[in-house]
Amino acid sequence: MRLIIASQNKGKLKEISCALATVGIEAVAMDSFGDLVPAIEDGETLEENAIKKAKAVVQQTGLPCLADDSGLMVDALNGRPGVYSARYAGEDASYADNNELLLRELKEFPPEKRQAAFCCVMALCYPDGKCQLFTGKLEGVILEQFQGNDGFGYDPLFAVGGQQRSLAQMSVAEKNEISHRGLALQKLLNHFI
Ligand code: IMP
Repeated sequence: MRLIIASQNKGKLKEISCALATVGIEAVAMDSFGDLVPAIEDGETLEENAIKKAKAVVQQTGLPCLADDSGLMVDALNGRPGVYSARYAGEDASYADNNELLLRELKEFPPEKRQAAFCCVMALCYPDGKCQLFTGKLEGVILEQFQGNDGFGYDPLFAVGGQQRSLAQMSVAEKNEISHRGLALQKLLNHFI
């Protein structure tokens, strides 16, 4: 079985492919269909954006598609950057720009006040317009320094409660075991298997 993934984010594609492969499903990136037009992510919630992304690709391919919208919610920042995690430091911000801004905004906060959570909503949408949603959450803390070179986004600054290792120091399979995305995918797979 093959499933189209409505994402151009290499980090997400790697994690989704790895999880789906464990049950023999091949993840097909939307880019393999040529120049599909991605959805504009202007929703106010992860749910809204995940559905928008999946539906945009369903409409252009006529096939069921899976999309992920995710974000980092930092307690000390009242839940920011949240749904705006990809463009926290500006429209064309790089991962490095976003991470530097996060470190600056949390500069005055000691380790015990750096709690955060990653949240993920996955939308599986079908050509008849119906969608199913699957969610996952990972709680942790924001580190004071970068750690590790793997993963993507805020991974080098995010450590899971009690551990000194960041998500960027874990293999894809290890991260999928505990992550917001891995948990949402697990729910999706339980639904079908
Ligand atoms: P979006 O879902 O395309 O809006 O992007 C979500 C943004 O949140 C990404 O660009 C990353 O900056 C961040 N993000 C989401 N999931 C993860 C993760 O697993 N690790 C690190 N950063 C993440």
